[in-house]
Amino acid sequence: MYLTPEEEKTLNGEFGESLQKAIEILVALGDIYGADRLIPVKSAQIAGVSYKTMGDAGLEWISDLEGKVKIPSVLNPAGMDIARWEEMGIEPAFAKKQQEIIEAYAKLGIQTKCTCTPYYLEGFDIGLDDHIAWSESSAVSYANSVIGARTNREGGPSALSAALVGKTANYGYHLDEMREPVVAVEVDCELSGSDLGALGYSVGKTIGSRVPIFYMKNEPSKNEMKSLGAALAASGAVALYHIDGVTPEATRKTFTRPDEVIPVERSQIDEVYETNKDIQSSEIITVGCPHCSPEELEEIADLVKGKKLLKEMWVCTAREVAERYPDLVQRIEKSGAKVVCDTCMVVSPATNKYASMTVNSGKALAYVPSMCKVAAKYASIEDCIKEAGVIDEN
Ligand code: F3S
Repeated sequence: MYLTPEEEKTLNGEFGESLQKAIEILVALGDIYGADRLIPVKSAQIAGVSYKTMGDAGLEWISDLEGKVKIPSVLNPAGMDIARWEEMGIEPAFAKKQQEIIEAYAKLGIQTKCTCTPYYLEGFDIGLDDHIAWSESSAVSYANSVIGARTNREGGPSALSAALVGKTANYGYHLDEMREPVVAVEVDCELSGSDLGALGYSVGKTIGSRVPIFYMKNEPSKNEMKSLGAALAASGAVALYHIDGVTPEATRKTFTRPDEVIPVERSQIDEVYETNKDIQSSEIITVGCPHCSPEELEEIADLVKGKKLLKEMWVCTAREVAERYPDLVQRIEKSGAKVVCDTCMVVSPATNKYASMTVNSGKALAYVPSMCKVAAKYASIEDCIKEAGVIDEN
């Protein structure tokens, strides 16, 4: 792989050990995947934040690093709401470790905004063909597919290395030829809302890590595409998908229709809603996986208007988004639901104590059983609110 004189010096340790370690990771990945050079990246999103998944070894690794990131960089969700962790039932010992992890990242110049939707944040606007280094799988999918930016599905260490060096190795989804669809998904019915997450959950396993192109009967919204991508990345390992005539790259050009076709009928979508339907009444309801957009917060605020929820319900979003729309937060919380920031139902240990959960996210449906050991069932946002046991105050 070609390195500039400056990059060679970094690799030789002339700018310190942390930068040396960082560029070593990038060069090693570049060598494995046949990159020709390093390319500049516009921003980084770094996974490996929740103490639930990081543990002490991860904390120690980050604490030892020095230097400052060279590009705007943010974090993935942490294990708790930084402001309301006690209310969530988080143990003080966990909270202390979680704070230490966040402080270690802050020391490196990383903005301590913990979210899987960095594209809603100020200063993180990215556009078609921009190169970035993001690591949370739904954020990667949204950036690649819905925005048309270019990122590999980075691991925590490689995203952090890219943030410190300001560059990444030029391979994978940074290259035109790796972005061509190789499998077609033909959907024979109109889909809306949580159907899109169900679609991703249903076909993700079959697609694996390949690039699909969807042929749809109707055009999904950006929020629906966010749900589709998150579920595809969780039940499979899809980092980029196209929707014929809808997503930016499938609008800019007409891709050749792949030979392999996965047909999808309505009954396959309905099956996802049937998962664990024997759970009569979930103990907790969680929405906002990926973190809610302002439009989704607005939809929820409208749906809970004049209602009192009887069960615990979390609405997960980025703190910056919640702070930008205090009126929406207030309208949602008036119902008894909690707008939970910085974290989510999967990476926080606070959901482990429940036996059952209702979700409106294909990604949460895929991960809650394995990562939280909680049985999960799938529902539309309207049915999630009904499941919360509503008293109508009107
Ligand atoms: Fe985000 Fe957590 Fe879902 S990180 S995509 S809300 S599992």
